[in-house]
Amino acid sequence: MLSGKRIVLGVTGGIAAYKAAFLLREFQKAGAEVRVTMTPSATRFVGLETFASLSQHEVAVDIFPKDTQSTDWTRHINWGEWADLFVIAPCTANTLSKIASGISDNMLTSTILAARSPILICPTMDGEMYESPSVTENLKKVQEFGFYVLEPASGFLASGLEGKGRLPEFEDILAKADEIIGSVEGPLADKKVVVTAGPTREFIDPVRFISNPSSGKMGVAMAEEAARLGAEVKLIHGPVSTPLPEDIHSTAVVSAQDMFEAIQSHSDADVIIMAAAVSDFTPEEQHEHKVKKEFGESSISLKKTQDILAWLGEHKKDGQTLIGFAMETENLIENATAKLERKNADWIVANSLTTEGAGFGVDTNHVHLIGKNSNKEFKGTKQEVAASVLGNIFQ
Ligand code: CTP
Repeated sequence: MLSGKRIVLGVTGGIAAYKAAFLLREFQKAGAEVRVTMTPSATRFVGLETFASLSQHEVAVDIFPKDTQSTDWTRHINWGEWADLFVIAPCTANTLSKIASGISDNMLTSTILAARSPILICPTMDGEMYESPSVTENLKKVQEFGFYVLEPASGFLASGLEGKGRLPEFEDILAKADEIIGSVEGPLADKKVVVTAGPTREFIDPVRFISNPSSGKMGVAMAEEAARLGAEVKLIHGPVSTPLPEDIHSTAVVSAQDMFEAIQSHSDADVIIMAAAVSDFTPEEQHEHKVKKEFGESSISLKKTQDILAWLGEHKKDGQTLIGFAMETENLIENATAKLERKNADWIVANSLTTEGAGFGVDTNHVHLIGKNSNKEFKGTKQEVAASVLGNIFQ
């Protein structure tokens, strides 16, 4: 169950923090992708570099980015939407009490509030702490919130005392994580979702074509995210330059016409996401042989391709959700809103080529999710943006 899942591991300031490094490895061995957030006191037990190098990702401690020029003020929201499961191991009495009261004074506690995923708390404490009335009360409270609590194990404690308070064995934590993830039914369970990705190629002759620099990364991220939310996904893609997910059924196409034909047999899907950068024009004539340059100056007559999204909008089935994309270079919101109406889509994910961190080929995006009466802004990695977009449409 943990294979391919995304886990945020929250590490707080108890001596068992050193065991969290091994726990992280266990999650990875089970096939999960792990990001770590630590409380400031946890960093006194284990250096954050340890977790950064093991997770191959930055470790988040503060809400405020270290780089004062950074505009990444919403990391806790991105991480909260990215995760399939949030595991706090070890969880001190202090962090437990903050979680029980909704305090959000660091990255870990803020991400708890932003999390859409289930939360598993592994309290570890020494001496009588675990049995103290306030801890008992807080544990009850967080369970009433719907958070999962894994009882600590008994044995030797760091103080030399013996009692209940140790971090449970890794296999017990993994078994609980597995059980929780297995019990979650995503909002797209039993739904059929078709996603298009990448560019199309419109051939002029056998060696030349008209295309665009789309890598397909955003479309692939949308397909992966839909699958993560439980959908049965079909990915129809042009010639992408990004790896395709092995566990998603994919169909390769070349031209806009091929993509149109491929999607028609799936036009009854519950959700269609047109993330592909479909060529708007194709040559009137496709030469059978290479056009030779000795023929001198040449020009190409173009005709419009079928607007696939507009066609889907015209033939929209009851209850179907149509999501389009819009890549603009000016008047982003105005143009994207016009596309929403013109193509009878339910949502348009709009981004601007002129915005930093958005556009072709890069791993990040900065988008506006435009609905009939709404406009929400998201930025982050393409995976995070895909999680925010689908998380907001299908909550
Ligand atoms: N689209 C489509 N078929 C086309 C062209 C575009 O289905 N032939 C879809 C894209 O996949 C995207 C949306 O329409 O979801 C908007 O694409 P975009 O290229 O931004 O808009 P266009 O309709 O092509 O308008 P323009 O080029 O004038 O901005």
